Amino acid sequence: MSDDRVYIFDTTLRDGEQSPGISLGVREKLEIAEQLQRLGVDIIEAGFPATSQGDFDAVTQLSARISDSVVCALARARSEDIDRAWEAVKGAAKPRIHTFVSTSDIHLEHQLRKTRDEVLEMARASVGRARGYCEDVEFSPMDATRSDPEFLYRVLEAAIGEGATTLNIPDTVGYSIPDEFAEIIRGIFENVAGIAGVVVSVHCHNDLGLAVANSLSAVEAGARQVECAVNGLGERAGNASLEEIVMTLKVRQDRLGLKTGINSTEISRTSRLVSMLTGYPVQPNKAVVGRNAFAHESGIHQDGVLKERTTYEIMDAASVGLVESDIVLGKHSGRHALKEQLERLGYFLGEDELNQAFKRFKELADKKGSLSGEDIEAVALEYIRTEGQRWKLTAYEVHSGGKEAPPSATVTLEREDERVTERAIGDGMVDATCKAIRAALKVDAKLYAMTVEAITAGLDAIGDVTMQLEVEGRRVVGRGVSTDIVEAAARAYLNAINKVLR
Ligand code: KIV
Ligand code: ZN
Repeated sequence: MSDDRVYIFDTTLRDGEQSPGISLGVREKLEIAEQLQRLGVDIIEAGFPATSQGDFDAVTQLSARISDSVVCALARARSEDIDRAWEAVKGAAKPRIHTFVSTSDIHLEHQLRKTRDEVLEMARASVGRARGYCEDVEFSPMDATRSDPEFLYRVLEAAIGEGATTLNIPDTVGYSIPDEFAEIIRGIFENVAGIAGVVVSVHCHNDLGLAVANSLSAVEAGARQVECAVNGLGERAGNASLEEIVMTLKVRQDRLGLKTGINSTEISRTSRLVSMLTGYPVQPNKAVVGRNAFAHESGIHQDGVLKERTTYEIMDAASVGLVESDIVLGKHSGRHALKEQLERLGYFLGEDELNQAFKRFKELADKKGSLSGEDIEAVALEYIRTEGQRWKLTAYEVHSGGKEAPPSATVTLEREDERVTERAIGDGMVDATCKAIRAALKVDAKLYAMTVEAITAGLDAIGDVTMQLEVEGRRVVGRGVSTDIVEAAARAYLNAINKVLR
Protein backbone atom coordinates (compact mmCIF):
# COMPACT_ATOMS: atom_id res chain seq x y z
CA MET A 1 0.00 0.00 0.00
CA SER A 2 1.67 3.22 -1.08
CA ASP A 3 1.56 5.97 1.49
CA ASP A 4 0.30 8.68 -0.83
CA ARG A 5 -2.66 6.72 -2.24
CA VAL A 6 -6.14 7.64 -1.00
CA TYR A 7 -8.80 4.98 -1.55
CA ILE A 8 -12.17 6.21 -2.76
CA PHE A 9 -15.07 4.33 -1.20
CA ASP A 10 -18.34 5.26 -2.87
CA THR A 11 -21.56 4.92 -0.89
CA THR A 12 -24.01 6.42 -3.41
CA LEU A 13 -25.87 3.12 -3.63
CA ARG A 14 -26.12 2.67 0.15
CA ASP A 15 -25.98 5.91 2.18
CA GLY A 16 -26.90 7.89 -0.98
CA GLU A 17 -29.96 5.76 -1.47
CA GLN A 18 -31.02 6.68 2.07
CA SER A 19 -31.74 10.24 0.83
CA PRO A 20 -35.47 10.93 1.19
CA GLY A 21 -37.41 9.78 -1.85
CA ILE A 22 -34.61 7.91 -3.62
CA SER A 23 -35.59 4.40 -4.55
CA LEU A 24 -33.40 2.75 -7.17
CA GLY A 25 -34.34 -0.47 -8.94
CA VAL A 26 -31.79 -3.22 -9.59
CA ARG A 27 -31.25 -2.14 -13.20
CA GLU A 28 -30.60 1.47 -12.15
CA LYS A 29 -28.14 0.32 -9.48
CA LEU A 30 -26.27 -1.82 -11.98
CA GLU A 31 -25.98 1.09 -14.38
CA ILE A 32 -24.59 3.34 -11.63
CA ALA A 33 -22.22 0.64 -10.35
CA GLU A 34 -20.78 0.06 -13.80
CA GLN A 35 -20.20 3.77 -14.19
CA LEU A 36 -18.54 3.95 -10.75
CA GLN A 37 -16.22 1.18 -11.88
CA ARG A 38 -15.43 3.12 -15.07
CA LEU A 39 -14.73 6.15 -12.89
CA GLY A 40 -12.13 4.10 -11.03
CA VAL A 41 -13.78 3.93 -7.60
CA ASP A 42 -11.83 1.52 -5.37
CA ILE A 43 -14.75 0.28 -3.29
CA ILE A 44 -18.46 0.36 -4.14
CA GLU A 45 -20.79 0.03 -1.15
CA ALA A 46 -23.60 -1.72 -2.97
CA GLY A 47 -26.27 -1.86 -0.26
CA PHE A 48 -27.51 -3.17 3.05
CA PRO A 49 -28.73 -6.71 2.22
CA ALA A 50 -30.48 -7.39 5.55
CA THR A 51 -32.86 -4.46 5.12
CA SER A 52 -34.88 -5.74 2.15
CA GLN A 53 -35.08 -8.41 -0.51
CA GLY A 54 -34.58 -5.65 -3.13
CA ASP A 55 -31.29 -4.60 -1.55
CA PHE A 56 -30.18 -8.21 -1.25
CA ASP A 57 -30.93 -8.86 -4.95
CA ALA A 58 -29.18 -5.68 -6.05
CA VAL A 59 -26.02 -6.53 -4.09
CA THR A 60 -26.06 -10.09 -5.44
CA GLN A 61 -26.40 -8.99 -9.05
CA LEU A 62 -23.88 -6.22 -8.71
CA SER A 63 -21.39 -8.66 -7.16
CA ALA A 64 -21.70 -10.86 -10.23
CA ARG A 65 -21.06 -7.94 -12.61
CA ILE A 66 -18.35 -5.81 -10.98
CA SER A 67 -14.83 -7.17 -11.16
CA ASP A 68 -12.38 -4.24 -10.84
CA SER A 69 -13.79 -2.48 -7.78
CA VAL A 70 -14.28 -4.10 -4.38
CA VAL A 71 -18.00 -4.70 -3.75
CA CYS A 72 -19.01 -4.02 -0.17
CA ALA A 73 -22.17 -4.99 1.73
CA LEU A 74 -23.23 -3.28 4.96
CA ALA A 75 -24.34 -5.20 8.05
CA ARG A 76 -25.28 -4.27 11.61
CA ALA A 77 -23.22 -6.01 14.29
CA ARG A 78 -25.61 -8.97 14.34
CA SER A 79 -24.96 -12.45 13.10
CA GLU A 80 -28.09 -12.58 10.89
CA ASP A 81 -27.05 -9.34 9.15
CA ILE A 82 -23.51 -10.53 8.59
CA ASP A 83 -24.66 -13.87 7.19
CA ARG A 84 -27.04 -12.08 4.84
CA ALA A 85 -24.34 -9.61 3.75
CA TRP A 86 -21.97 -12.46 2.96
CA GLU A 87 -24.68 -14.39 1.11
CA ALA A 88 -25.20 -11.34 -1.15
CA VAL A 89 -21.57 -10.39 -1.73
CA LYS A 90 -19.84 -13.76 -1.84
CA GLY A 91 -20.01 -13.93 -5.64
CA ALA A 92 -17.97 -10.75 -6.06
CA ALA A 93 -14.42 -10.90 -7.43
CA LYS A 94 -13.38 -8.69 -4.50
CA PRO A 95 -15.95 -8.90 -1.70
CA ARG A 96 -15.97 -6.83 1.50
CA ILE A 97 -18.24 -6.94 4.56
CA HIS A 98 -18.71 -3.65 6.40
CA THR A 99 -20.12 -4.03 9.90
CA PHE A 100 -20.97 -1.28 12.38
CA VAL A 101 -22.21 -0.58 15.88
CA SER A 102 -22.70 2.71 17.73
CA THR A 103 -20.15 3.70 20.35
CA SER A 104 -21.43 7.05 21.68
CA ASP A 105 -23.15 7.10 25.06
CA ILE A 106 -26.13 8.91 23.51
CA HIS A 107 -26.71 6.00 21.13
CA LEU A 108 -25.93 3.34 23.73
CA GLU A 109 -28.35 4.77 26.25
CA HIS A 110 -31.25 5.88 24.06
CA GLN A 111 -31.11 3.65 21.01
CA LEU A 112 -29.23 0.43 21.65
CA ARG A 113 -29.94 0.29 25.42
CA LYS A 114 -26.68 -1.57 25.91
CA THR A 115 -23.67 -1.16 28.17
CA ARG A 116 -20.21 -0.34 26.84
CA ASP A 117 -19.07 -3.89 27.59
CA GLU A 118 -21.97 -5.31 25.60
CA VAL A 119 -21.15 -3.08 22.65
CA LEU A 120 -17.48 -4.03 22.82
CA GLU A 121 -18.54 -7.65 22.66
CA MET A 122 -20.86 -6.98 19.70
CA ALA A 123 -18.00 -5.34 17.80
CA ARG A 124 -15.68 -8.23 18.57
CA ALA A 125 -18.19 -10.92 17.66
CA SER A 126 -19.37 -9.26 14.43
CA VAL A 127 -15.87 -8.64 13.06
CA GLY A 128 -14.89 -12.19 14.00
CA ARG A 129 -17.93 -13.63 12.24
CA ALA A 130 -17.37 -11.50 9.13
CA ARG A 131 -13.70 -12.47 9.08
CA GLY A 132 -14.78 -16.12 9.12
CA TYR A 133 -16.33 -15.49 5.71
CA CYS A 134 -14.19 -12.83 4.10
CA GLU A 135 -10.63 -11.53 4.24
CA ASP A 136 -11.65 -7.93 3.64
CA VAL A 137 -13.62 -6.62 6.63
CA GLU A 138 -14.39 -3.03 7.52
CA PHE A 139 -15.61 -1.96 10.94
CA SER A 140 -17.31 1.36 11.85
CA PRO A 141 -17.95 2.67 15.36
CA MET A 142 -21.06 4.69 14.57
CA ASP A 143 -21.26 8.25 15.98
CA ALA A 144 -17.51 8.03 16.62
CA THR A 145 -17.08 11.81 16.85
CA ARG A 146 -19.42 11.97 19.87
CA SER A 147 -17.92 8.90 21.55
CA ASP A 148 -15.62 8.83 24.56
CA PRO A 149 -12.15 8.54 22.94
CA GLU A 150 -10.90 5.97 25.46
CA PHE A 151 -13.87 3.69 24.78
CA LEU A 152 -13.48 4.27 21.03
CA TYR A 153 -9.82 3.12 21.22
CA ARG A 154 -10.84 -0.06 23.07
CA VAL A 155 -13.49 -0.92 20.49
CA LEU A 156 -11.11 -0.27 17.60
CA GLU A 157 -8.45 -2.44 19.20
CA ALA A 158 -10.99 -5.24 19.63
CA ALA A 159 -11.91 -4.96 15.93
CA ILE A 160 -8.23 -5.13 14.92
CA GLY A 161 -7.78 -8.11 17.23
CA GLU A 162 -10.53 -9.96 15.34
CA GLY A 163 -8.94 -9.20 11.96
CA ALA A 164 -10.65 -6.01 10.67
CA THR A 165 -8.67 -4.67 7.70
CA THR A 166 -10.24 -1.19 7.51
CA LEU A 167 -11.39 0.95 10.43
CA ASN A 168 -13.85 3.62 9.39
CA ILE A 169 -14.43 6.65 11.62
CA PRO A 170 -17.88 8.11 10.93
CA ASP A 171 -19.00 11.61 11.78
CA THR A 172 -22.51 10.20 11.65
CA VAL A 173 -24.39 13.37 12.56
CA GLY A 174 -22.05 15.85 10.83
CA TYR A 175 -21.10 17.41 14.17
CA SER A 176 -17.32 17.68 13.98
CA ILE A 177 -15.22 20.56 12.67
CA PRO A 178 -11.99 20.14 10.66
CA ASP A 179 -9.23 20.64 13.24
CA GLU A 180 -11.16 18.67 15.86
CA PHE A 181 -11.75 15.77 13.43
CA ALA A 182 -8.03 15.72 12.53
CA GLU A 183 -7.29 15.55 16.27
CA ILE A 184 -9.62 12.55 16.63
CA ILE A 185 -7.81 10.77 13.78
CA ARG A 186 -4.38 11.59 15.21
CA GLY A 187 -5.59 10.34 18.62
CA ILE A 188 -6.53 7.03 17.00
CA PHE A 189 -3.10 6.69 15.35
CA GLU A 190 -1.39 7.44 18.67
CA ASN A 191 -3.53 5.30 20.98
CA VAL A 192 -4.81 2.23 19.16
CA ALA A 193 -2.48 -0.75 19.20
CA GLY A 194 -2.09 -2.38 15.78
CA ILE A 195 -3.45 0.64 13.87
CA ALA A 196 -0.43 0.71 11.52
CA GLY A 197 -1.57 -2.58 9.96
CA VAL A 198 -5.03 -1.37 8.88
CA VAL A 199 -6.44 1.33 6.60
CA VAL A 200 -8.02 4.22 8.48
CA SER A 201 -11.11 5.51 6.72
CA VAL A 202 -13.50 8.43 7.31
CA HIS A 203 -17.21 8.85 6.61
CA CYS A 204 -18.47 12.40 7.09
CA HIS A 205 -21.99 13.77 6.94
CA ASN A 206 -22.72 17.28 5.80
CA ASP A 207 -25.13 18.64 8.42
CA LEU A 208 -22.95 21.74 8.93
CA GLY A 209 -21.66 21.79 5.35
CA LEU A 210 -18.27 20.48 6.53
CA ALA A 211 -18.23 16.91 5.20
CA VAL A 212 -15.59 17.55 2.53
CA ALA A 213 -13.45 19.80 4.76
CA ASN A 214 -13.58 17.24 7.59
CA SER A 215 -12.66 14.37 5.26
CA LEU A 216 -9.68 16.25 3.84
CA SER A 217 -8.55 17.29 7.28
CA ALA A 218 -8.62 13.60 8.30
CA VAL A 219 -6.63 12.67 5.21
CA GLU A 220 -3.97 15.20 6.20
CA ALA A 221 -3.90 13.50 9.61
CA GLY A 222 -3.22 10.11 7.98
CA ALA A 223 -6.59 8.61 6.92
CA ARG A 224 -6.24 6.81 3.58
CA GLN A 225 -9.80 5.90 2.67
CA VAL A 226 -12.57 8.45 2.15
CA GLU A 227 -16.21 7.43 2.05
CA CYS A 228 -18.21 9.71 -0.18
CA ALA A 229 -21.15 9.84 -2.57
CA VAL A 230 -21.69 11.24 -6.04
CA ASN A 231 -23.32 14.71 -5.92
CA GLY A 232 -22.97 14.54 -2.12
CA LEU A 233 -26.07 12.35 -1.75
CA GLY A 234 -26.81 10.67 1.56
CA GLU A 235 -28.83 10.64 4.73
CA ARG A 236 -30.19 14.15 5.66
CA ALA A 237 -27.75 16.80 4.30
CA GLY A 238 -25.75 14.06 2.60
CA ASN A 239 -22.23 12.65 2.61
CA ALA A 240 -18.97 14.20 1.48
CA SER A 241 -19.22 14.74 -2.25
CA LEU A 242 -17.02 12.37 -4.27
CA GLU A 243 -16.28 14.89 -7.00
CA GLU A 244 -15.18 17.58 -4.53
CA ILE A 245 -12.89 15.21 -2.63
CA VAL A 246 -11.32 13.82 -5.80
CA MET A 247 -10.81 17.18 -7.49
CA THR A 248 -9.37 18.79 -4.36
CA LEU A 249 -6.83 15.97 -4.08
CA LYS A 250 -6.01 16.37 -7.77
CA VAL A 251 -5.96 20.17 -8.07
CA ARG A 252 -4.09 20.64 -4.79
CA GLN A 253 -1.66 17.79 -5.16
CA ASP A 254 1.07 20.41 -4.86
CA ARG A 255 0.07 20.92 -1.22
CA LEU A 256 -1.45 17.60 -0.17
CA GLY A 257 0.93 15.28 -2.05
CA LEU A 258 -1.73 12.57 -2.41
CA LYS A 259 -3.35 10.73 -5.29
CA THR A 260 -6.43 8.63 -6.06
CA GLY A 261 -7.12 6.02 -8.74
CA ILE A 262 -10.02 8.06 -10.18
CA ASN A 263 -10.29 8.88 -13.86
CA SER A 264 -11.59 12.41 -13.35
CA THR A 265 -12.81 12.76 -16.95
CA GLU A 266 -15.69 10.40 -16.01
CA ILE A 267 -16.92 12.72 -13.24
CA SER A 268 -19.48 14.76 -15.22
CA ARG A 269 -21.06 11.74 -16.77
CA THR A 270 -21.27 9.98 -13.40
CA SER A 271 -22.90 13.01 -11.84
CA ARG A 272 -25.49 13.30 -14.65
CA LEU A 273 -26.26 9.59 -14.54
CA VAL A 274 -26.78 9.61 -10.76
CA SER A 275 -28.89 12.75 -10.93
CA MET A 276 -31.10 11.40 -13.70
CA LEU A 277 -31.61 7.99 -12.11
CA THR A 278 -32.14 9.18 -8.54
CA GLY A 279 -34.30 12.12 -9.60
CA TYR A 280 -32.17 14.49 -7.49
CA PRO A 281 -31.19 17.52 -9.58
CA VAL A 282 -27.73 19.05 -9.10
CA GLN A 283 -27.83 22.66 -7.89
CA PRO A 284 -26.49 25.01 -10.62
CA ASN A 285 -23.71 26.40 -8.41
CA LYS A 286 -22.59 22.99 -7.07
CA ALA A 287 -18.78 22.76 -6.96
CA VAL A 288 -17.21 20.75 -9.81
CA VAL A 289 -20.44 19.40 -11.39
CA GLY A 290 -22.96 22.27 -11.23
CA ARG A 291 -24.08 23.79 -14.52
CA ASN A 292 -22.35 27.06 -13.58
CA ALA A 293 -19.15 25.54 -12.21
CA PHE A 294 -17.25 26.65 -15.31
CA ALA A 295 -19.46 29.58 -16.38
CA HIS A 296 -18.07 33.12 -16.20
CA GLU A 297 -20.59 35.93 -15.93
CA SER A 298 -18.61 39.06 -15.09
CA GLY A 299 -16.93 40.93 -17.93
CA ILE A 300 -13.59 41.06 -16.11
CA HIS A 301 -13.58 37.30 -15.61
CA GLN A 302 -14.66 36.59 -19.21
CA ASP A 303 -11.93 38.88 -20.47
CA GLY A 304 -9.32 37.16 -18.30
CA VAL A 305 -10.37 33.63 -19.32
CA LEU A 306 -10.33 34.56 -23.00
CA LYS A 307 -6.76 35.82 -22.62
CA GLU A 308 -5.58 32.94 -20.45
CA ARG A 309 -7.91 30.29 -18.98
CA THR A 310 -5.98 29.94 -15.73
CA THR A 311 -6.61 33.58 -14.74
CA TYR A 312 -10.00 32.57 -13.33
CA GLU A 313 -10.15 28.77 -13.64
CA ILE A 314 -8.31 26.45 -11.27
CA MET A 315 -9.28 23.35 -13.24
CA ASP A 316 -10.00 22.67 -16.86
CA ALA A 317 -13.62 21.71 -17.66
CA ALA A 318 -12.19 18.87 -19.79
CA SER A 319 -10.48 17.40 -16.70
CA VAL A 320 -13.93 16.52 -15.28
CA GLY A 321 -15.18 15.36 -18.66
CA LEU A 322 -17.11 18.47 -19.65
CA VAL A 323 -16.56 18.56 -23.37
CA GLU A 324 -18.90 19.86 -26.02
CA SER A 325 -20.49 16.87 -27.66
CA ASP A 326 -20.46 16.87 -31.45
CA ILE A 327 -23.20 14.24 -31.61
CA VAL A 328 -26.35 15.14 -33.52
CA LEU A 329 -28.95 12.69 -34.75
CA GLY A 330 -31.92 13.61 -36.90
CA LYS A 331 -35.32 12.08 -37.54
CA HIS A 332 -33.88 10.13 -40.48
CA SER A 333 -31.11 8.55 -38.44
CA GLY A 334 -31.47 4.80 -38.05
CA ARG A 335 -31.19 2.38 -35.17
CA HIS A 336 -27.57 1.65 -35.96
CA ALA A 337 -26.61 5.33 -35.71
CA LEU A 338 -28.43 5.59 -32.37
CA LYS A 339 -26.64 2.48 -31.07
CA GLU A 340 -23.28 3.87 -32.14
CA GLN A 341 -23.87 7.25 -30.51
CA LEU A 342 -25.22 5.68 -27.31
CA GLU A 343 -22.07 3.57 -27.09
CA ARG A 344 -19.94 6.67 -27.57
CA LEU A 345 -21.81 8.14 -24.62
CA GLY A 346 -21.18 4.98 -22.59
CA TYR A 347 -24.62 3.30 -22.82
CA PHE A 348 -24.65 -0.31 -23.96
CA LEU A 349 -28.24 -1.41 -24.51
CA GLY A 350 -29.34 -4.92 -25.41
CA GLU A 351 -31.30 -5.61 -28.62
CA ASP A 352 -34.77 -5.25 -27.04
CA GLU A 353 -33.74 -2.26 -25.02
CA LEU A 354 -32.38 -0.58 -28.11
CA ASN A 355 -35.66 -1.17 -29.97
CA GLN A 356 -37.61 0.50 -27.16
CA ALA A 357 -35.17 3.39 -26.86
CA PHE A 358 -35.28 3.82 -30.64
CA LYS A 359 -39.09 4.15 -30.58
CA ARG A 360 -38.83 6.95 -28.04
CA PHE A 361 -35.95 8.54 -29.92
CA LYS A 362 -38.08 8.62 -33.08
CA GLU A 363 -41.01 10.21 -31.25
CA LEU A 364 -38.76 12.98 -29.96
CA ALA A 365 -36.82 13.43 -33.19
CA ASP A 366 -40.10 13.79 -35.11
CA LYS A 367 -41.11 16.62 -32.80
CA LYS A 368 -37.73 18.28 -32.43
CA GLY A 369 -36.02 17.63 -35.76
CA SER A 370 -32.60 16.76 -34.38
CA LEU A 371 -31.29 15.51 -31.05
CA SER A 372 -27.97 16.47 -29.43
CA GLY A 373 -25.73 14.22 -27.31
CA GLU A 374 -27.46 15.49 -24.13
CA ASP A 375 -30.90 14.75 -25.61
CA ILE A 376 -29.86 11.24 -26.61
CA GLU A 377 -28.44 10.64 -23.15
CA ALA A 378 -31.75 11.80 -21.62
CA VAL A 379 -33.64 9.30 -23.81
CA ALA A 380 -31.33 6.45 -22.80
CA LEU A 381 -31.59 7.36 -19.14
CA GLU A 382 -35.35 7.64 -19.29
CA TYR A 383 -35.42 4.17 -20.78
CA ILE A 384 -33.24 2.76 -17.99
CA ARG A 385 -35.26 4.61 -15.35
CA THR A 386 -38.59 3.30 -16.54
CA GLU A 387 -37.53 -0.20 -17.58
CA GLY A 388 -39.76 -2.75 -15.91
CA GLN A 389 -42.12 -0.09 -14.61
CA ARG A 390 -45.66 -1.37 -14.41
CA TRP A 391 -47.73 1.36 -15.98
CA LYS A 392 -46.83 3.21 -19.15
CA LEU A 393 -48.37 6.39 -20.51
CA THR A 394 -49.58 5.45 -23.97
CA ALA A 395 -51.81 8.42 -24.84
CA TYR A 396 -52.83 11.76 -23.41
CA GLU A 397 -54.77 14.81 -24.44
CA VAL A 398 -54.98 18.12 -22.59
CA HIS A 399 -57.08 21.26 -22.96
CA SER A 400 -55.96 24.48 -21.40
CA GLY A 401 -59.60 25.53 -20.90
CA GLY A 402 -60.75 29.13 -21.06
CA LYS A 403 -63.63 31.26 -19.78
CA GLU A 404 -66.21 28.54 -20.33
CA ALA A 405 -64.39 25.36 -19.37
CA PRO A 406 -61.68 24.50 -16.82
CA PRO A 407 -58.38 22.85 -17.88
CA SER A 408 -58.86 19.13 -18.47
CA ALA A 409 -56.79 16.07 -19.31
CA THR A 410 -57.45 12.55 -20.54
CA VAL A 411 -54.76 9.94 -20.05
CA THR A 412 -54.45 6.32 -21.16
CA LEU A 413 -52.19 4.04 -19.16
CA GLU A 414 -51.30 0.47 -20.03
CA ARG A 415 -49.59 -2.52 -18.50
CA GLU A 416 -49.38 -5.97 -20.07
CA ASP A 417 -52.98 -6.66 -21.14
CA GLU A 418 -54.65 -3.94 -19.06
CA ARG A 419 -55.61 -0.52 -20.32
CA VAL A 420 -57.27 2.35 -18.43
CA THR A 421 -58.41 5.74 -19.61
CA GLU A 422 -59.47 8.55 -17.28
CA ARG A 423 -60.37 12.19 -17.65
CA ALA A 424 -60.06 14.85 -14.98
CA ILE A 425 -60.30 18.61 -14.61
CA GLY A 426 -57.83 20.66 -12.60
CA ASP A 427 -56.36 24.08 -11.79
CA GLY A 428 -54.06 23.79 -14.77
CA MET A 429 -53.07 21.23 -17.37
CA VAL A 430 -50.42 19.58 -15.16
CA ASP A 431 -52.84 19.36 -12.25
CA ALA A 432 -55.57 17.87 -14.45
CA THR A 433 -53.12 15.31 -15.89
CA CYS A 434 -51.91 14.23 -12.45
CA LYS A 435 -55.50 13.91 -11.23
CA ALA A 436 -56.37 11.74 -14.24
CA ILE A 437 -53.36 9.48 -13.51
CA ARG A 438 -54.41 9.18 -9.85
CA ALA A 439 -57.95 8.30 -10.84
CA ALA A 440 -56.77 5.73 -13.38
CA LEU A 441 -54.48 3.97 -10.90
CA LYS A 442 -56.66 4.56 -7.82
CA VAL A 443 -53.70 5.70 -5.75
CA ASP A 444 -53.33 8.45 -3.24
CA ALA A 445 -50.45 10.80 -4.15
CA LYS A 446 -49.53 14.25 -2.90
CA LEU A 447 -47.11 16.52 -4.78
CA TYR A 448 -44.50 18.24 -2.60
CA ALA A 449 -42.14 19.81 -5.09
CA MET A 450 -41.69 20.09 -8.82
CA THR A 451 -38.85 21.51 -10.88
CA VAL A 452 -38.72 22.04 -14.63
CA GLU A 453 -35.45 22.38 -16.51
CA ALA A 454 -34.45 22.42 -20.15
CA ILE A 455 -31.85 19.83 -21.13
CA THR A 456 -30.42 22.01 -23.89
CA ALA A 457 -30.95 25.61 -24.94
CA GLY A 458 -33.70 26.77 -27.33
CA LEU A 459 -37.47 26.83 -27.36
CA ASP A 460 -37.65 23.30 -28.76
CA ALA A 461 -35.42 21.94 -25.95
CA ILE A 462 -36.36 18.74 -24.20
CA GLY A 463 -37.95 19.58 -20.85
CA ASP A 464 -36.84 17.66 -17.78
CA VAL A 465 -39.36 17.54 -14.92
CA THR A 466 -38.58 16.29 -11.40
CA MET A 467 -41.37 15.70 -8.90
CA GLN A 468 -41.28 14.78 -5.23
CA LEU A 469 -44.42 12.95 -4.17
CA GLU A 470 -45.84 11.15 -1.23
CA VAL A 471 -47.53 8.03 -2.60
CA GLU A 472 -49.46 5.80 -0.20
CA GLY A 473 -47.45 7.33 2.66
CA ARG A 474 -44.02 6.89 1.00
CA ARG A 475 -41.78 9.74 -0.25
CA VAL A 476 -40.57 9.17 -3.81
CA VAL A 477 -38.94 11.19 -6.55
CA GLY A 478 -39.93 10.83 -10.20
CA ARG A 479 -38.44 12.28 -13.32
CA GLY A 480 -39.65 12.56 -16.91
CA VAL A 481 -38.48 14.12 -20.15
CA SER A 482 -40.34 15.29 -23.24
CA THR A 483 -40.43 18.21 -25.67
CA ASP A 484 -43.79 19.00 -24.05
CA ILE A 485 -43.68 20.04 -20.39
CA VAL A 486 -47.12 18.59 -19.58
CA GLU A 487 -46.09 15.22 -20.97
CA ALA A 488 -42.75 15.40 -19.12
CA ALA A 489 -44.71 16.12 -15.91
CA ALA A 490 -47.05 13.19 -16.57
CA ARG A 491 -44.05 10.90 -17.08
CA ALA A 492 -42.37 12.15 -13.88
CA TYR A 493 -45.58 11.66 -11.90
CA LEU A 494 -46.06 8.17 -13.26
CA ASN A 495 -42.38 7.32 -12.70
CA ALA A 496 -42.73 8.19 -8.99
CA ILE A 497 -45.99 6.21 -8.58
CA ASN A 498 -44.50 3.23 -10.40
CA LYS A 499 -41.62 3.15 -7.90
CA VAL A 500 -44.10 2.63 -5.07
CA LEU A 501 -46.08 0.06 -7.02
CA ARG A 502 -42.79 -1.73 -7.72
O1 KIV B 1 -23.18 7.62 9.01
C1 KIV B 1 -22.81 6.52 9.47
O2 KIV B 1 -22.35 6.39 10.61
C2 KIV B 1 -22.96 5.35 8.60
C3 KIV B 1 -22.33 4.09 9.08
C4 KIV B 1 -23.13 2.90 8.71
C5 KIV B 1 -20.92 4.02 8.57
O3 KIV B 1 -23.49 5.46 7.52
ZN1 ZN C 1 -23.59 7.61 6.87
